[in-house]
Amino acid sequence: MTFLKKIIKRHLGDLNVLRTKYFLKKAGYPKTLRIDITAFCNAKCPFCPRIAMPDARLSGKMSLEKFSSIITEATKFGIKTIKLYITSEPLLHPKFSKFIDIIKSKNLEVQVSTNLSVVQHRLNDLAKVNKLQLSIEGWDKISYEKYRFPLKYERARENYKFLINDPNLKSIFKEIHLPVTKLTNLKKFFKLWGNVDSIRIDFMQPYNDFNKENNTFISKFPLQLKDEIYQLEEKLVKTCYDPFDEIVIGFDGKVHLCCLDFHAELPLGNIENGFDNVLKNHKRKSIQKEFLTGDVKTCNDCSQFMVASKSQKDNLIKQIDLAWKDIKPNSKIIFYDKVWEK
Ligand SMILES: C[S@@+](CC[C@H](N)C(=O)[O-])C[C@H]1O[C@@H](n2cnc3c(N)ncnc32)[C@H](O)[C@@H]1O
Ligand code: SF4
Repeated sequence: MTFLKKIIKRHLGDLNVLRTKYFLKKAGYPKTLRIDITAFCNAKCPFCPRIAMPDARLSGKMSLEKFSSIITEATKFGIKTIKLYITSEPLLHPKFSKFIDIIKSKNLEVQVSTNLSVVQHRLNDLAKVNKLQLSIEGWDKISYEKYRFPLKYERARENYKFLINDPNLKSIFKEIHLPVTKLTNLKKFFKLWGNVDSIRIDFMQPYNDFNKENNTFISKFPLQLKDEIYQLEEKLVKTCYDPFDEIVIGFDGKVHLCCLDFHAELPLGNIENGFDNVLKNHKRKSIQKEFLTGDVKTCNDCSQFMVASKSQKDNLIKQIDLAWKDIKPNSKIIFYDKVWEK
């Protein structure tokens, strides 16, 4: 964020910034489409919201035909970027290559996030993406296999090396997303995985469950990691741009409110009814209104609003600093707006 933007934000407050952007038509015109091409994942990460998802949303996949017509319409609505992941492992779709080709044929940017389990036979496809997010939390075999159960550490290491060394992938921006807990060993992590373009650190978040009775999200801490996950605090002013600036589509065409709406139970329609109808959907509009008035109900208990305290952040900054000085990884390290770079 530039200095000027920081000053404006501090002066106006988050809510007034959102209102101003909306009034100036800078919010509410999505440029990003997130889409799940498959519902399946081969991992059961103990912190992932999949642990609370209904069975009906854990399997199934999108057809190429449906995807192709969504992408064609997306370009007409000014979408510039396709993020090919919400709640599953995109590389497991048997026709992954064809999905990438459809996106590239429309000159759109594509971003992929993967658990690193099956990259070897996908290297040619991954060479076409604009940004590759690698999801890794472990700093050795034991911790890797705990966080990415039942994936195997040796396979992840082998695939990581393929990705780093493949000449066709040299220019692809590779970023590790590292959600940390109190146990994360940053020194060992930087030593093991510190050859990507960047490592983006944040706090491991609680996940969203969904209360069907009153159509609201509920934030829950993952039980298996309860002793190590940082206890975050609820933010008081709740502002979110996602219901304005992203269109999020499940493997079956159902519209999700955002990338944290893993259940897709809100009556937000199906993309088969067209982008125009999705953007004008009554429920979508009413949730936007909740954010614009500051009277947030649907998303009041969303995990997005569970944030770290200043002392938790300062403490983590010290730990990152120490690990950085000790290991000097080749990757840039990003933590909120702080950056460590050689
Ligand atoms: C849900 S995954 C889907 C894509 C793919 N399967 C993967 O793991 O990259 C997308 C991202 O969400 C992150 N994620 C899942 N649960 C999380 C949590 N409780 N806190 C922080 N990040 C989380 C994962 O680490 C991953 O980077
Ligand atoms: S974080 Fe990714 S790899 Fe892990 S269970 Fe969730 S979708 Fe699967």
